[in-house]
Amino acid sequence: MGMRVLVVGNGAREDALSWRLAVSPSCEAVFAAPGNAGTASRGENWNIPVTNGKALSARCKEERIDLVVLGPETAIAAGVGDRLRDAGIPTFGPDRSAGRLESSKIFSKHFMERHEIPTANAVVVHTLSAALKTLDEWTGACVIKADGLASGKGVIVAPDAQVARDVLTEWYGASRIPGGGAGVLLEEKLEGRELSVFAIGDGRALYPFAAACDYKRAGDGDTGPNTGGMGAYSPPHGFPSDMEDQVRMRIIAPTLRGLLAEGERYIGVLYCGLMWTLNGPYVIEFNARFGDPETQVLMPRVNGDFAAFLKSAADGALDPSAASLSERTCVGVVLATTDYPRSNAPLPNLPGDISLSEGVQAFWGASTSQNGKINAAGGRVLTVTALGGDLASARSEAYTAVGKIAKRFGSSTGLTFRRDIALV
Ligand code: AMP
Ligand code: GLY
Repeated sequence: MGMRVLVVGNGAREDALSWRLAVSPSCEAVFAAPGNAGTASRGENWNIPVTNGKALSARCKEERIDLVVLGPETAIAAGVGDRLRDAGIPTFGPDRSAGRLESSKIFSKHFMERHEIPTANAVVVHTLSAALKTLDEWTGACVIKADGLASGKGVIVAPDAQVARDVLTEWYGASRIPGGGAGVLLEEKLEGRELSVFAIGDGRALYPFAAACDYKRAGDGDTGPNTGGMGAYSPPHGFPSDMEDQVRMRIIAPTLRGLLAEGERYIGVLYCGLMWTLNGPYVIEFNARFGDPETQVLMPRVNGDFAAFLKSAADGALDPSAASLSERTCVGVVLATTDYPRSNAPLPNLPGDISLSEGVQAFWGASTSQNGKINAAGGRVLTVTALGGDLASARSEAYTAVGKIAKRFGSSTGLTFRRDIALV
């Protein structure tokens, strides 16, 4: 009997995970909660919010689920992993305590300092007066980070102390610190190229699995506001040839030592958001989950039995031979509504029957399907990915597919996308 797998979440990341799990030899059925138009094409969507651990656990028991894969950070921070594991349900995704590496930037920074993991120097403040006092001595740019989860809206890169003062005066003055807490990090700005590295934890070890580059700004040439991510490609291009070894020794090894020393059993993906500086890799942030849109460009590269791979990690003994990554390159371009990231205007009635050529996949963001039409919730609507022998051919295939889809949707649809993804 094959495995029955639940994917928690409703974005293009979860569509990509569900797609790869569904074609895994050991997977019999794949469900999603709450899922989207893409996951609905492969199995039942359960109408349960991602943070409702009690309802998820009860339904998993009823449906005899063998493995749960947690997508979003909100589920992890709400303790859904703890709840499912307490109920004896194998779960890929950390518990709330280990998940603080993402859900609290102050916890994460202190963890890195305790375990000598390279990261930007930072000062923690809890009040406006402490922040302003710190800025009196500040030279150069200042990266301001709200402590809590803020869906990408909690980080501001201020070019100088005056801009930082203005931001903090607004945050504290209006009592509106993104994420809702009182703590803020003031951090030195690192220079270099960004890189996302995904390590798989099984509670005992961390195995580097994959790496990707992500484009966070809304506009071409890295201009405009920060977003959840407008495109990605994998594997990364133009980093030192010993990149993997450096990341393993300087980042993954001390992180694992730190987790074990602090009694954390990390099961799931540890997403290391890195800046490659003149002095090698520094951690910008940890996330406790797969990246979006990085996952959309990783899943097409996965060979083997991905369901068995994640299940072995959830069971506490990763079988690294269960899955591997192909040598091919994958490029993904996000199509978003024109108001994104300011707001998310719903986009109803999109054609659901997009035909794609070999090696091309399109993953739906938050959406529902009805009579063959897709109603998108808005924001990041679709991630279009293509595999190629090298970066240039994958890029060209991806943009050809984007062009076809944009045409199929019609010019009045008003979806935007970056034109410089994977142009390195
Ligand atoms: P985060 O949510 O912490 O990943 O921050 C969002 C984005 O802000 C990152 O992807 C970087 O582009 C930028 N950023 C955050 N911290 C720093 C830093 N210390 N130096 C330079 N850029 C940063
Ligand atoms: N792509 C950035 C993130 O998933 O946080």
